[in-house]
Amino acid sequence: MKIKGSTNIVGLIGHPVEHSFSPPMHNAAFEALGMDYAYVAFDVNPNELKSAISGAKSLNIKGFNVTIPHKIGVIEFLDEIDEVAGLIGAVNTIDFKEMKGYNTDGIGAVKAIEEVTSIENKNVIVAGAGGASRAISFYIAKYGADTLTVLNRNVEKAQNLAGDVLDSGLMNEVKYASISEINEYLSDGDILINTTPVGMHPNVNVDSIATSDDMHEDLVVFDAVYNPNETVLIKEAIKANAKPVYGIKMLLYQGAESFKIWTGVDAPVDVMEKALRETLDL
Ligand code: ATR
Repeated sequence: MKIKGSTNIVGLIGHPVEHSFSPPMHNAAFEALGMDYAYVAFDVNPNELKSAISGAKSLNIKGFNVTIPHKIGVIEFLDEIDEVAGLIGAVNTIDFKEMKGYNTDGIGAVKAIEEVTSIENKNVIVAGAGGASRAISFYIAKYGADTLTVLNRNVEKAQNLAGDVLDSGLMNEVKYASISEINEYLSDGDILINTTPVGMHPNVNVDSIATSDDMHEDLVVFDAVYNPNETVLIKEAIKANAKPVYGIKMLLYQGAESFKIWTGVDAPVDVMEKALRETLDL
């Protein structure tokens, strides 16, 4: 890739950012399509966020991904927020053309699952009630799930998230319970989504949130954890002959959605997946 006088800049703001997989993934896509774009990472201190956004706009930067700790704080500096991103209350993508914020994390999860099955009319169980669960839950509702059940260790947090999704009017049936009751929900479930860090490197040999005994063969099991690639939960899903969806796919599709927002061009998903796998050593 050659940086020229005409090169369009997109990038990532976060703190820290140096271990991000996004620059190689997006730059591989730009290169494959011969697009005059470059993706760079900017480490932005939280107290510099406002000037970073106005500076980026002045520098004619086309778009940003936004990561921890700026996903919530950045909203007040934008002119417009996509409807679902507003409900989620967090933004991971900025389009500077309209100073508009989006959240492609949840879309990424939905697209990952849709490689295997449609969300429409399904009974979906989401484990965890933190930021990742919130982003995914609203998109599960938006994509037409029949029921959503939020399971969490702290039941009050599950209740709050379930209430917010119900209040959004995106779907009519949202339940919540303790994660310890997961086996009671799986028999009627179509899709299980793990948003907790259980099984994440370096604590890979822990008890899974659900075991193969609780799963049926038609269950789609998506783990948002991508390191390791094959988590304890995915291992249990394979053992149960259920349908595993790997965390790397969420990274891939959130990136593909951001790419489309910035450029208007459909992302070369295969190229991006290859670059992602190389970066993550998978
Ligand atoms: P993220 O932004 O990745 O969602 P988070 O907002 O810190 O991170 O949320 C982490 C979620 O994982 C929470 O729902 C947390 O449960 P609690 O609300 O009960 O703390 C859940 N979680 C973390 N460690 C867990 C564990 N060992 N078992 C079950 N759930 C766990």
